[in-house]
Amino acid sequence: MEIADVRGDLSQVLLTGDEIQRRIGQLAATVDQDYQGKDLLLVGVLNGAVWTLADLARELRNDCQMDWVAISSYGAGVTSSGVLRLLKDLSADVAGRHLLVVEDIIDTGLTLSYLIENLRGRGPASLEVLTAFRKPAAARCDVAVKYVGFDIPNDFVVGYGLDYAGRYRHLRGLGVLDPAVYNR
Ligand code: PRP
Repeated sequence: MEIADVRGDLSQVLLTGDEIQRRIGQLAATVDQDYQGKDLLLVGVLNGAVWTLADLARELRNDCQMDWVAISSYGAGVTSSGVLRLLKDLSADVAGRHLLVVEDIIDTGLTLSYLIENLRGRGPASLEVLTAFRKPAAARCDVAVKYVGFDIPNDFVVGYGLDYAGRYRHLRGLGVLDPAVYNR
């Protein structure tokens, strides 16, 4: 889905699909350098990270493997309390492996802090984070993130994995959702 297809639902276009792809390509080149000769496992956080992980992995020149987790947030109210639960665990044993957690967005940072603590306990050789987007103004905890695509404003954004009520995830770019859409 292209920005032109939903332009009326967006109050602002933040990034085009091409801009995001270019940045993911740059991050992939850095990841390739950093993990040269290492056993790299990309850990995607369902559902939003599907697009970021797929695009990143296809830009990598070195071999890597992929695995997925799903984390329940119990809806927005409970997310802010930090009560989270692993809904789907990794299939792989990660002890001694180099893990790169891949996210579409870091908002409060609560999801990632929970996941990082959980994964650390399994004895990986290393554990780093890559995110396509980050909202610095929304941060509620300190998460060390090695690779950031774009820092963005604290607006309700959709596209490139980010949804509103299940819609817009497959939009190539990233835009601010017009409040008229969720006030309908
Ligand atoms: C989004 C996003 C991150 C999380 C970030 O997932 O993909 O996993 O929220 O928010 P936080 O930094 O405030 O914890 P969401 O729970 O919306 O699920 P989804 O990926 O299935 O849309």
